[in-house]
Amino acid sequence: MGDHADPNVEQAPWIHPAPWSPSTWRAKPIKQQPHYEDAKALGAALDTIRGYPPLVFVGEVDNLRRQLADAAAGERFLLQGGDCAERFQDCTPETITSKLKILLQMSVVLAYGARQPVVRVGRIAGQYAKPRSADTEVIEGVTLPVFRGDNINSFEPDAAGRKADPNRLLQSYYAASMTLNYLRAMITGGFADLHHPQNWDLSFVGKSTQRQRYGQVVANIQDAVAFMSSFGGIREERLGSVDFFTSHEGLLLGFEEAMTRQLSAGGRHYNLGAHMLWIGDRTREINGAHIEYFRGIANPIGIKWGPSADPEEMALLLKALNPSNEAGRITIITRFGEGKVEACLPPAVAAVQRHGLKVLWSSDPMHGNIIKTKDGIKTRDFDAILGELRACFSIHRTLGGRLGGVHFEMTGEDVTECIGGAAGLGESDLTRNYETFCDPRLNYSQALEMAFVISGIMRGERA
Ligand code: PEP
Ligand code: CO
Repeated sequence: MGDHADPNVEQAPWIHPAPWSPSTWRAKPIKQQPHYEDAKALGAALDTIRGYPPLVFVGEVDNLRRQLADAAAGERFLLQGGDCAERFQDCTPETITSKLKILLQMSVVLAYGARQPVVRVGRIAGQYAKPRSADTEVIEGVTLPVFRGDNINSFEPDAAGRKADPNRLLQSYYAASMTLNYLRAMITGGFADLHHPQNWDLSFVGKSTQRQRYGQVVANIQDAVAFMSSFGGIREERLGSVDFFTSHEGLLLGFEEAMTRQLSAGGRHYNLGAHMLWIGDRTREINGAHIEYFRGIANPIGIKWGPSADPEEMALLLKALNPSNEAGRITIITRFGEGKVEACLPPAVAAVQRHGLKVLWSSDPMHGNIIKTKDGIKTRDFDAILGELRACFSIHRTLGGRLGGVHFEMTGEDVTECIGGAAGLGESDLTRNYETFCDPRLNYSQALEMAFVISGIMRGERA
C-alpha cells in the first residue's frame, strides 16, 4: 500500500480501532432509516425495548458461530431462508409451522446430498425492516413515503399509514418473541421428528421428470432414519430435536442498539434479538453507521456482496468487521445474478484469498435475479436462480474453495410469486396467489425442489 495511502486505509478501524459502544454508529453517516416525527415517542419505545428480555441466549449465538466455523472449514452446510419481509399479520400458527416445516425438509434433503449436518438459519422472528431503492413512491397520483417494513410503517397506501410509527417497534418485538416461542415449542416438542418423511408433500413431482429420483431420495432418507433408530449407538431422541437459529437484516440501528446487551462488565456485546444478523447490499459503506454498529457485536454476521461492490474495498471492510480473523464470524452472501456471477465471483474470491480472510461463502441466488413480467409484476425465474447457484458451486470448486451455504427467499405456502419449477408456474399464474409485500418468494414446492436439485449437485461433487 506504500506511502500513497488510500483514504480508507488511513481510517482503517482495525489498525487503530476507535472506542466502540452500541451507540457509536450514531455519529456516522447512515442510510435507509425512516424519519420519525416524534423523537420523544421513538426514544420512549426504544427505552422500553431496552428493558425487555433478550430473545436469544449468548450460548446459542456462540454455538451458531462454532457451527458456521465448521461450515467454513467444509464440515457443515448452511441453509438460510425465509421471507423477504415478515409481516405482523403472518404471526399465526399456520404460517410459522409451514415455514419451519419447509426449512426442516430442505435441510434433510441437503444433508442427504452433502453427507454433512446442515446449519439451519431462518430469515424469521425479526425480518421486518426493508431497505428500499427510493424514499417515496407515487400511488394513484399521490406521492407517499415508501413502505419500509412492518416495524416502521404500514403497507396501506395513505399518508397516515406510511408515517413511521414508534409503536411498531414494540409490536415487532412482540411478534418476534411470539414467533420464536412457537418455534422453540415445536422443536422441543418433537415437531422436527424426522421419522415421518412420508408426510412430505411431493405432489409437485407428479409432473416432473425427476419423480423417480426424488421418490428414491425420500425412500433412502426414510431408510437411513429407520436404520439409525434401530441402531443403539444413536439415541432416538436426537432425531427428534434439531438446532434452529434466527436471523434478519440489521437495518434499523436504533432497534438493534436496544437489543444489544453486555452480560458482564467488560464482556463482549451481543445483539440478542437474533442469533445472526446480516448487512444489506445497500448499507455496507466502510465509513457508514452500519459497519460501525456491526464491528462491535459478537454475533456471527452475514454481509451481502452485490455486483457494485469493489473486491479490494470489500476485503478492507471484512478486516474492519473481523480484525482477529475469527472463524465463523463472517458469512459472505454473494448475490450477483445469473448473468453477472461468472464475471463478479472470481475476483471476489481472489480478494478474500489474497488477504487470507477466513469466511464462509454462501450464495443468495434471489436478489440478482429479479425481473418484471410484461404486465409489470416482479418475479424470479426458477431456472435463473438455479443457474446462479450452479455457477457458484462450480466457480468456488475451480478456485480451490467451496460454496458452503445457500440463502433463499421462500415460504411454506402455495404462493405464486416465482415462475418455473417442476409444477410449471408461468407468468399467467402469478396473479393467482401473489402475497408478498416485497420480493417474490419460492413456494413450498419450488423450495423443496430446489433442495433436491442442490442435493444432487452436492452428491455429484462428492463423486
Ligand atoms: C434482502 O435480503 O431482502 C435484501 C434486501 O438483499 P440485498 O441487501 O442483497 O439486496
Ligand atoms: Co428481498
